[in-house]
Amino acid sequence: MSAEHLLLTVDDSDHQHSNHHDRGVKFEIRGLRKVSEAGVPILNGISVDIPKGMIVGIIGPSGSGKSTMLRALNRLWEPQSNTVFLDGHDIVDLDVLGLRRKVGMLFQLPVLFQGTVADNIRYGPRLRGKKLSDEEVSKLLTLADLDSSFLSKTGGELSVGQAQRVALARTLANEPEVLLLDEPTSALDPISTQNIEDVIVKLKKKKGMTVVMVSHSIKQIQRVADVVCLLVNGEIVEVLKPGELSEAKHPMAQRFLQLSS
Ligand SMILES: Nc1ncnc2c1ncn2[C@@H]1O[C@H](COP(=O)(O)OP(=O)(O)OP(=O)(O)O)[C@@H](O)[C@H]1O
Ligand SMILES: [Mg+2]
Repeated sequence: MSAEHLLLTVDDSDHQHSNHHDRGVKFEIRGLRKVSEAGVPILNGISVDIPKGMIVGIIGPSGSGKSTMLRALNRLWEPQSNTVFLDGHDIVDLDVLGLRRKVGMLFQLPVLFQGTVADNIRYGPRLRGKKLSDEEVSKLLTLADLDSSFLSKTGGELSVGQAQRVALARTLANEPEVLLLDEPTSALDPISTQNIEDVIVKLKKKKGMTVVMVSHSIKQIQRVADVVCLLVNGEIVEVLKPGELSEAKHPMAQRFLQLSS
């Protein structure tokens, strides 16, 4: 099935969730809203389907609500019930730690824990009573494009790009089905950026990973994403294929795209 068939912006009147997960929808988002404590709207009723096994890019001006939208998907803030469904289940009904294992997240800057790279990667599985062997840890490092010489290094010995790949390996240790990436390469040099992009695309192809990636770089989105959501003022104003971004019709989206390209 092609991306356009799967990723639908949904009519605002259609807040009902259906059995879309049966036909390959990973996340259904229906009328997702957030208002700040001061009463300012941050998200204005977002409705969109995130297809399984695809990389969905999210772009839009600063302050448009990209991080806020992403953070709802693993309950870093608590969305209203009946607004976010994972595989057809309302995420507020799921065990939150289980949800976060399934839906891993990577931020702009990696924060490693005390101890070695291996300790970091073993952390998540250990919480579940599973001890990863050196071989398993090495395999995760390889997935994140690092070799086993990193096993015994500490966070302080790593470049930001390497630390970001360790953070990715640590997330992958939880065997997630979805990765949420919030500008994961904005602090990285071009080579580290390419490494991360390659890993993300490989995870999609080899493991069928679903990825939701916020990026300020339109070029990056065009390199990796299958579909792109344009978020403006807390609303998804367009859903486009990466090659068709210049066809955006929304005036703010057009302006943003012109200024960013
Ligand atoms: N906890 C909060 N309380 C109040 N306002 C908030 C909170 N979190 C975010 N906001 C506001 O919500 C809006 C959206 O913020 P968000 O961080 O989602 O934007 P963004 O699109 O990720 O921006 P950027 O590209 O700069 O990262 C902003 O106006 C921000 O000031
Ligand atoms: Mg942000």
